[in-house]
Amino acid sequence: MIRDIEQIRSFFPYLQSADSGGRTLIYFDNAATTQKPRIVINAVSRWLVDANANVHRAVYGLAATATEHYEAGREAARALINAASKDEIVLTSGTTASINLLANVYGQRYIKPGDEILLSEGEHHSNLVPWQMLCERTGARLRYFPVGEDGQWDLEAAEKILAEGKVRMVSAAHISNVLGIVNPVGELTALAHRYGAHIHLDGAQGIVHAGIDVQSIPCDFYSFSGHKIYAMTGTGVLYGRRSLLETLPPWMGGGEMVDTVTYGKTTYADIPLRFEAGTPNFLAAATLRPAIDFATSVRIPQVHKNEEEMTEYLMRELNSIGGMRIIGSGGKKVPLISFNVEGVHHSDIATLLDKMGIAVRSGQMCSEPLLNKFGQTGAVRVSLAAYNTMRECEAFIAALHRVLKMLK
Ligand SMILES: Cc1ncc(COP(=O)(O)O)c(C=O)c1O
Repeated sequence: MIRDIEQIRSFFPYLQSADSGGRTLIYFDNAATTQKPRIVINAVSRWLVDANANVHRAVYGLAATATEHYEAGREAARALINAASKDEIVLTSGTTASINLLANVYGQRYIKPGDEILLSEGEHHSNLVPWQMLCERTGARLRYFPVGEDGQWDLEAAEKILAEGKVRMVSAAHISNVLGIVNPVGELTALAHRYGAHIHLDGAQGIVHAGIDVQSIPCDFYSFSGHKIYAMTGTGVLYGRRSLLETLPPWMGGGEMVDTVTYGKTTYADIPLRFEAGTPNFLAAATLRPAIDFATSVRIPQVHKNEEEMTEYLMRELNSIGGMRIIGSGGKKVPLISFNVEGVHHSDIATLLDKMGIAVRSGQMCSEPLLNKFGQTGAVRVSLAAYNTMRECEAFIAALHRVLKMLK
């Protein structure tokens, strides 16, 4: 049982560390990747010794142990999103890999010239470029439904496009990595299905701050990255509803994705291995289990309350700064806030904050079209995790005031 945030912090070696000046570092770039708890770090170093053999191939005990750990990672991912079966969980190297896989296999099977793929204007490059590439290859058309001034989706506009009857696939972020707003993915899923389209949700941020039950929000596909919820880098998931996933052809060919191979012809393995050619990043994927156990154990009222209070505090304090522009201030906000201050360059702010021991993201955040839409070339982003504290938020706001004094 988790008692409080301080106890959560004690599980993370990084949060116990200090810089050369003895300062405790403040890590506010959790949307990019989270720090790792000891339970994950220890599991990897242990498994490198006692479970390091290639998975799904050999009969000896060590290989069986490695396979058990890998499959336990898959089962943990299944349980996290309440998928009906472990077969619906394809293990990938991250959200980007999941979406590229999906765009390729879905495209091969379902997309023909003149079809449309519908995205929101608020997508990460990972949920835009693979679809753009697919359209270039197939002669399909990429369309976008608008995000309003306050960052919220315009579902009426989405419905108008869907009602034209050409959209085969809708793909949109559960929570944008710039706007930090929980999008109405249940409504969009219902709309897509009403007009006969399939829907994929990019859950890279949604899995962290909102969670999903793919049976109560029956999207066709859902992607997320393990490393953003405390697992090792090089881990990710593509969930696909069985009846649809089974209709899709493989993308990469190689070991493990086959049923039988002759010099002339290959037949393919069932889902999910059909989509997992070659040696997977099996030790990293196995960390999905301890990481998801940990992420689930910190989904407690104190953490929710702390996150809400920190979000409210940061929004209030940031809004009181002259020339402040918060990108995405409407709807249900999570502790992920992007901003600019008039007359000051975002990377100067981040560079000076770094000198003060505070890590924030700056730049385009892999969302160039969205930032351009808001008339910005980049922004500063703070994104918090379960281990961040109000004390750190106060230190960040005080540091930001000092930085702005220097830069203005
Ligand atoms: C909304 C969103 N989609 C996709 C990605 C890509 O994730 P990854 O780099 O883990 O593949 C990110 C990463 O920040 C993201 O925030």
